Amino acid sequence: MQIQIEAQPFAAISTEALVTFVFDKDERIEGTVALLDQATQSKLAPLAKSGELTGKMFEMVLLHYPQGLAAQRLLLVGAGKPDKFSPADLRRLTGAALRYLKSRGVKNFTILAREGNGGAAALQTVVEGLFIANFESDTYRSKKDNGKVIESVKLAGFEGSSAELESAYERGKLLGESQNFARSLINEPSNKLTPRNLADRAAAMAKESGLAVEILDEDKIAELKMGALIGVAQGSVEPPRVIVITYTPANLRADAPVLGLVGKAVTFDTGGISIKPADGMEKMKYDMGGGATMLGVMRALAQLKPSVKVICVVPATENMPGGRAQKPGDVQVAMSGKTIEIINTDAEGRLILADGIAYAKKLGATHLIDAATLTGAIVVALAGVHVGAFGTPREYLDRFLKSADAVGEKMWPMPMDDDYQEMIKSSIADIRNTGSGKGGGAITAAWFIKEFAEDTPWIHLDIAGTAWFDENKAWSAKGPTGIAVRSIVDFVMKMS
Ligand code: BES
Ligand code: ZN
Ligand code: ZN
Repeated sequence: MQIQIEAQPFAAISTEALVTFVFDKDERIEGTVALLDQATQSKLAPLAKSGELTGKMFEMVLLHYPQGLAAQRLLLVGAGKPDKFSPADLRRLTGAALRYLKSRGVKNFTILAREGNGGAAALQTVVEGLFIANFESDTYRSKKDNGKVIESVKLAGFEGSSAELESAYERGKLLGESQNFARSLINEPSNKLTPRNLADRAAAMAKESGLAVEILDEDKIAELKMGALIGVAQGSVEPPRVIVITYTPANLRADAPVLGLVGKAVTFDTGGISIKPADGMEKMKYDMGGGATMLGVMRALAQLKPSVKVICVVPATENMPGGRAQKPGDVQVAMSGKTIEIINTDAEGRLILADGIAYAKKLGATHLIDAATLTGAIVVALAGVHVGAFGTPREYLDRFLKSADAVGEKMWPMPMDDDYQEMIKSSIADIRNTGSGKGGGAITAAWFIKEFAEDTPWIHLDIAGTAWFDENKAWSAKGPTGIAVRSIVDFVMKMS
């Protein structure tokens, strides 16, 4: 998909479809829409009057061969109430327009900015929306949608210097493509993406992006005594890997923070000996979503060049019930030295994060963020709407939530009171890998991870409910979402 910034007046743009947005208000025919109404000799005002053009969110009104325009079609996308309108809506509306037109065989179209949403920031948002919407999850389908592809998109009516608009475009493309990089990994089935394959793909990305990379194999993992990761991996014939990618800024200040990004990458979670029910188990290929998120973040950071050092640690393994698999009641010794009683082998994500976090700290991380498809409990608490965001100290989490807000990713703060820490006490070891069965499963899981982050400022994102869409959305194909990539990038860029 080619994207270009167009300088011509809208009426003269030759395109298969000219697209703009209409707000849900009495004065719908205003601004850009009023200009379009004039240019088409008032083809729009009667539609507003008859109730065909309401401006309701995602309403699509398509006119063919509109007179007065060089465009073959005019598409008016409903944008909802103007006082509620946010950049997140702009991203989604743009995406919805792309998917609507693509499904009708349109190959090129033009987005015409609306007044008030036509600066460089809006252009970046629009570009992100286009890339997110253009992603398809049908990688292995022989017959892909009859050749329906978007070849090019023009962006018209955006105001700013060409340098400003150009850099907004570059940034939007980088973020959209990095999010899609994460999605393409998440979408892979587990037979095509084993821990070793994931490590290869991460290393290739790192090399292409100019980032330092080290892949720890099973021998190195044993040497480092990553007992929690080894315990999970031992039930599989596929060996584990730990992917370590480092970004180091030029002119690194000695007192600058070092950020550790740790992502859960269970390339398939059967549950292990505490095996999951068959129904829906195929979805557990996305249990490496946290790791993929962090790889997408690193891909973007390599080009955005923040002023802080960033160390990405992705422990990767399968969770299988093989003959050597760990069993409920087993005790494992984590790399940090803490002992863990395994109550349920399906609570494996926190185990591999324990060693990932300890290793990031060993490499010098002064601040931590982890992302993981960690618990079914977070799906119960927040459905698929918000990411569950945990963290200590609270001020560190609050700063992160501002970034999530800024990039339009819904996240909700969860409690970390000491009361929950009690629930992971074990009678045989330091801690146990599940709560006490009183509920709060997402919080006790977070507390387990905090036992390894300890006093290092730490954020934990439980993306179990939000990393995968079961249904198509107007602005996105069903499947992997790539949630949290943009929030983490925004947060790192504001850190220094
Ligand atoms: N990978 C799952 C969590 C998950 C659930 C991800 C639904 C995506 C969608 C995780 O490893 C798991 O199995 N967690 C258990 C923990 C329990 C045994 C304490 C869970 O949440 O049921
Ligand atoms: Zn599990
Ligand atoms: Zn899991």
